[in-house]
Amino acid sequence: MHNMNRVQMLDFRERGDDRGHLVIVEGNIDIPFEIKRVFYIYGSDADVVRGQHANRISEFVLINVAGKSKVKVKDGEGNEAIFCLNRPHTGIYIPNMVWKDMYDFSKDSVLLCLASTHYDPYEYIRDYDDFIRIINEVNITQ
Ligand code: TYD
Repeated sequence: MHNMNRVQMLDFRERGDDRGHLVIVEGNIDIPFEIKRVFYIYGSDADVVRGQHANRISEFVLINVAGKSKVKVKDGEGNEAIFCLNRPHTGIYIPNMVWKDMYDFSKDSVLLCLASTHYDPYEYIRDYDDFIRIINEVNITQ
């Protein structure tokens, strides 16, 4: 089974009261990995496409804590799916070896990214043809 089948939307616990909202995301409880890294993306124009990579090792959860964006995931075998991130208590889980494009950022978009690894540029696959080649190699050896 390709990892793209494991991509899923996650609904996080919300503790709202008259003081406002509080959303809880705990590693290995609300998401399927221990959080090693947090980064966030904001100030991207509507016509910008970010991501455009797959990761050999890293798993991610992406949450639009403000505003909206879209994520397109691809398995390198012709299948793709599009997810809308538009709620602060909802995220998308993206396992390793899944191609991802983030786009359609609203002006107020703040995209919070939780990662299972520390940053290592060498585990990023930034060329789509390389990604297809590596996916095919994995399929042959399985
Ligand atoms: P990039 O991977 O292009 O961001 P996106 O996935 O949104 O397209 O990262 C932009 C720059 O930031 C690039 O020079 C690498 C650097 N960077 C780090 O140093 N550490 C990190 O954890 C991340 C995600 C990026």
